[in-house]
This record gives sequence, structure tokens and C-alpha cells, in this order.
Amino acid sequence: MREAELEGILAGLRRFPDVEAPNLFAHDATDRLLVETAAEHLAPGARLAVVGDRYGALTLGALAALDVSGVRVAQDLYSGRSALQRNAEAAGLAGRFESVGPGEGGGLYGARLFEDASVVLLQLPRSLAELEEIADAVARHAPDDAVLLAGGRVKHMSLGMNSVLERFFESVQPQLAERKSRVLVARGPKRPAGPPRFPVLDEVAELGITVASHGAAFSGGKLDIGTRFLLSFLDRMPDARHAVDLGCGTGILAAMYARSHPRARVTATDQSAAAVASSTATAVANGLAGRIAVVHDDAMSGFGEGSADLILLNPPFHLGASVHAGAALKMFEAAARVLAPGGELWTVYNSHLQYRPALERLIGATTELGRNPKFTVTRSIKA
Ligand SMILES: C[S@@+](CC[C@H](N)C(=O)[O-])C[C@H]1O[C@@H](n2cnc3c(N)ncnc32)[C@H](O)[C@@H]1O
Repeated sequence: MREAELEGILAGLRRFPDVEAPNLFAHDATDRLLVETAAEHLAPGARLAVVGDRYGALTLGALAALDVSGVRVAQDLYSGRSALQRNAEAAGLAGRFESVGPGEGGGLYGARLFEDASVVLLQLPRSLAELEEIADAVARHAPDDAVLLAGGRVKHMSLGMNSVLERFFESVQPQLAERKSRVLVARGPKRPAGPPRFPVLDEVAELGITVASHGAAFSGGKLDIGTRFLLSFLDRMPDARHAVDLGCGTGILAAMYARSHPRARVTATDQSAAAVASSTATAVANGLAGRIAVVHDDAMSGFGEGSADLILLNPPFHLGASVHAGAALKMFEAAARVLAPGGELWTVYNSHLQYRPALERLIGATTELGRNPKFTVTRSIKA
């Protein structure tokens, strides 16, 4: 293992175009530990599959420090894919790996990703459902003798993760923690008998719709309480020519708006591939497939200026594991660019977050439409 090369890659890594700030990092100790552990398991010239690489630390670190013949990588976030590409160009490693999109038949992680891989590197996701979806895909598609190295920060790991992996692998061995990170080594895939469980379909009776969710989708098959509060204003929302569900998650807002405004063109968009696949399946499940276009993008970067007259938004307040207002502000800035003059942003947020001054500054006149003990709903009109 070429340690100096790994250090060089990590030192040069940037999060851009994701939010950058002094307290937000492009890699963590788990990335380093995973590459070091891969060095112990990888025969020279073997192939590597990478799942959940945030900004390229795993993919580029492995290419620089290990003797791999090829790397295939799947990333959920649009900004993570762009960051990997930019970091690869900066490191002179562009074209040395293959980014793999969703598999055939609606599966998020298809056979190609794991073909001939002798080691699979995984940054453990936060939710057990997301881990289940990934573990199912590895157990389904990876070669018999492949080793899954799943790493995380000890403080974010739970025994539930071992249990999920044990359902899909004959052996799961936790390694000793190092620098507050730990790797679980899983071997012996148990080939799943039936089709994958994802996307899961749930009825949301109070709305009369079916919600489809992949493991990583926000709120799973449930209606988020902030979303519920925003939807209580549905009959007051304007008739838009083009309405956008920004940060669509499972696509509940897009489905509800499309159903109640039959003449509107509706676009649902999210930075997460799991959200995009979930929203697509939600539209299909509710007979709205022809009405809702679903777009994978980072904060509408590919949308034309002034191209929407209504945007619905339940913004995130997390960036990875840290709470950071930058994620919501980035969405407001995007809404300001994409709304036509006179267009409206309807948003819901935790009342203590006090986003109103930012909405006034970035979008325009902002009215509080409702407030309950937890949430505030506002309408901002693009100046
Ligand atoms: C609080 S959830 C709301 C999901 C859904 N609209 C609902 O109400 O159930 C926020 C969503 O915004 C997405 N998101 C966060 N940052 C984004 C960005 N820069 N561009 C697009 N989507 C983003 C997240 O992936 C997540 O699905």
C-alpha cells in the first residue's frame, strides 16, 4: 500500500459542488481505514466495487494507493458524483474508474457494479433500510469469494447493522476500532431467493396515496409531519403552469399537487438517486407517471432561470451527519434563480430555524401562512 499517495489524495479532496465550510470535511477516518483494510484483502490486479463514496476518498484513494485493475463506483448523491469527477480530474485519475447508475428493473444497485469484484468497499449508511438494500444487492450480485468491507464512525454504528449484514452473509466479523472508526468484514453471500424488497409500497391512508420508498429515501414510507403541515395548505396553492417539488424524497408533494392540479406540469427533483427512483415509483403507483417528470440534480442546477412558477419545499437541515443551515440556504438560492418573477416558493421548516429573513432576502416578500407548535409554513413571492 502506497501511504504517501493516499495522503496526497485525501489532502487534495474537495466537497465542491456540495456545500463547503470550515467544519465540513471531504473525507473522514473511516475512508482511510477502509482503504488500508482493502490493502489487506485485495490480491494485486483484482477489481474493486465501491458503494457510498462521498467525494471520492475511497475510489481515488484506492486507485492511488492500491494495485487495483479496475474500480466501479455507485454514489447516491448527485453532488457526490460531480465532486468525485472533479477530484479525479485534479488528481489526474479521470477515466480510471467507472461510475455505475441504477441497475436493470428498478434496482438501485445492479449486477454490473459488483461484476468480478473481489472486494466491495462501503461507507455504512445511516439508515438500516439503506444498508439492507445495499447488502441485498451485494449478496445477490457479487462473486462467491468477494469480501464486503463496511466501515463507519463508531458513534454512528449500531449492532442493528451487524444483524442486517448477518441476514445476507455467512460470516460478519467486526474488526478492532481504530481512530474512532470500525470495519465490519462480511463474507459468503447468501443469495436472496425472491426479488428485492425495495422499493417498498405503503398506503398513506390520510392522503389516499401509495408511497414508494427505497432504503435511503427521507421518511421511508411515512408522511413526515412537516410535509403533512405543508399539505394542509394544498387547496390554497396557486394553479401553476410548471410546479417543482424541490428535494422530493419519495415524491409525496409532487403526487399530491399533480393530483389536485390536473393542468399543471409537475417536476420532482432530488440530489439522491434513491429519492429519484422512489418518486418515479410513487408517480407510477398513483397513475401519475405521465404527469410528473423526475429529475436527478443538485439544487436544480440544470433548470433554466425563471422556468417554474411554483416551488414546493420541505428543506433538509442536515448535511451528512452534521446539522448545517447551508443545505436549506442552497435550496432557497436555487429557488430564487428558477422561479419566474411573481412565482411562489411554498416552504415548511422547524419554527426555531427562523428562515424568514433569508427567504425575504433571497426570494422576496414572505408571508407566514401558518405556524403550529413545531413548524412554520411560508409563501415567498419572487421579486
Ligand atoms: C426533508 S426531505 C423532504 C422530502 C420530501 N419533499 C417530503 O416532503 O417528504 C429533504 C430532501 O431534500 C433533498 N436534498 C437535500 N439537498 C438537496 C440538493 N442540494 N438538491 C436536491 N435535493 C436535495 C434530500 O435528499 C431530501 O430528499
